[in-house]
Amino acid sequence: MISEKKIKPPIVLCGMMGTGKSTLGRLLAEELSLPFYDLDKMIEQKTGKSIPQIFEEFGEKEFRRIEREVLTAFVQSCDGVLALGGGSLQNQHLTDHVKLYAWLVFINTPIELILERVLRKKNRPMIKTEDPEKTREKIEQLFEARKPLYKQAHITVQTDGRDAEVFATEIVKRLKIYAA
Ligand code: S3P
Repeated sequence: MISEKKIKPPIVLCGMMGTGKSTLGRLLAEELSLPFYDLDKMIEQKTGKSIPQIFEEFGEKEFRRIEREVLTAFVQSCDGVLALGGGSLQNQHLTDHVKLYAWLVFINTPIELILERVLRKKNRPMIKTEDPEKTREKIEQLFEARKPLYKQAHITVQTDGRDAEVFATEIVKRLKIYAA
């Protein structure tokens, strides 16, 4: 009997803050019957501190060092779906490393939607202002800088305000191309 083709994990989701990587990742993991992991949660577990606390006590540079360390080690043995933080790919070297071990999926979401979500939830250390115009500028600036790395993903999914289920199904369908 020929068995059904399986998508080999890890599957790693990248994209800006507020794109719904964790919600989508959880659904995707469910659809594929795989475990779900969230890099920010793993960093919080390792350090015993919340992400805003790490930024406040040690600064962004130290946060990125921990993030790099956890991601580099974990992606090699990850057996499921992993949602990254918005800045986790950091540089070309790290992006190459992730792509060596994982199917990389870029969740792309319109800036308007990102802005709406970021303004609603005010605990993002990379956004230090509550001024909507300044927040938009900061998001645009971060997105421009990160886009060259995000765009190297195997798959890009353009989301909108619809339910995450729609996009989880789309990702599964498109990942099947790589199934073995
Ligand atoms: C960050 C995004 C956050 C978190 C940290 C830094 C960023 O994750 O990793 O606050 O640099 O964009 P989310 O993308 O899950 O919000």
